[in-house]
Amino acid sequence: MSTTDTDAPSRPPLRRRPDARAISEADALAALHFLVLSGIRDIAGHEPADHFARSRKTTTSSAPGPQSRAAAPPPAAPPVQTALQGADSARRSAAELAAQCNDLASLKAAIESFDQCALRATATHTVFADGNPEAALMIVGEAPGREEDRLGKPFVGESGRLLDRMLAAIGRDRDSTYITNVLPWRPPGNRKPTPAEITICLPFLKRHIELIRPQVLFLTGGVAAGALLERREGITRLRGRWFDYAAAGDRIPVMASFHPAFLLRQPEQKRRAWEDLLKIQEKLERNRESAEPGQNRPDRQ
Ligand code: URA
Repeated sequence: MSTTDTDAPSRPPLRRRPDARAISEADALAALHFLVLSGIRDIAGHEPADHFARSRKTTTSSAPGPQSRAAAPPPAAPPVQTALQGADSARRSAAELAAQCNDLASLKAAIESFDQCALRATATHTVFADGNPEAALMIVGEAPGREEDRLGKPFVGESGRLLDRMLAAIGRDRDSTYITNVLPWRPPGNRKPTPAEITICLPFLKRHIELIRPQVLFLTGGVAAGALLERREGITRLRGRWFDYAAAGDRIPVMASFHPAFLLRQPEQKRRAWEDLLKIQEKLERNRESAEPGQNRPDRQ
């Protein structure tokens, strides 16, 4: 029986690529999309890993003999685990460095000189912070994007313009707010930060918060919320609720909400972000009213 379907519509002939090894941009994107859907977040770890070694070991052990039994090494760790193990020693170095910083200038210098996060090598600038270090409100975003990397300041691109409008809606601007990110370096192509990158950079962010000691922390987006709240829920569940963040003996009220970049894509969610901002405004207002003169840095706006 023939397998040819004569009723099938004739297909256009396949176009041959000039170079059989080259793949088109569309194919490359489709492949990347597939990897992301498969849950693969770390294409390259922090330590070189020979992933072919695993299949070589499997092949060798399929022909059992006294030697192979005696020398059988433990199975190789999966790539993400390897990256996290490499990240742990980098995180410890970052924590040691951060602990020695007693002011913002030394923290900035320490981050700029830290070379154990691979993102530093691909970034143009280290993006430390913007705004007023004396402000009562501290905002933590995800990571610099293209414009931030170019100019060395957080939230200066399209998301930043929306963030400025959000702040203006509660009577604030960069003179009455302090802004930083979980990562001080741009992930190439604005991809999501990997768990390893977040782990490595987190000690710097934690020290940053201790040095600023804001009255309220505002986390924009799931990456900042996940990094600092250490909870498993996503941003949709975490937003709009008050949490406490422990910083050097202080308990700082924290509110998480949607990231401005997400709001640009889903403007219908702005209403919920607006509700979250109003809660922040109310908390700051109450703090101001209840502050006794001379108490808890009353000069803070
Ligand atoms: N998105 C962020 O999370 N941070 C920035 O600085 C810019 C865009």
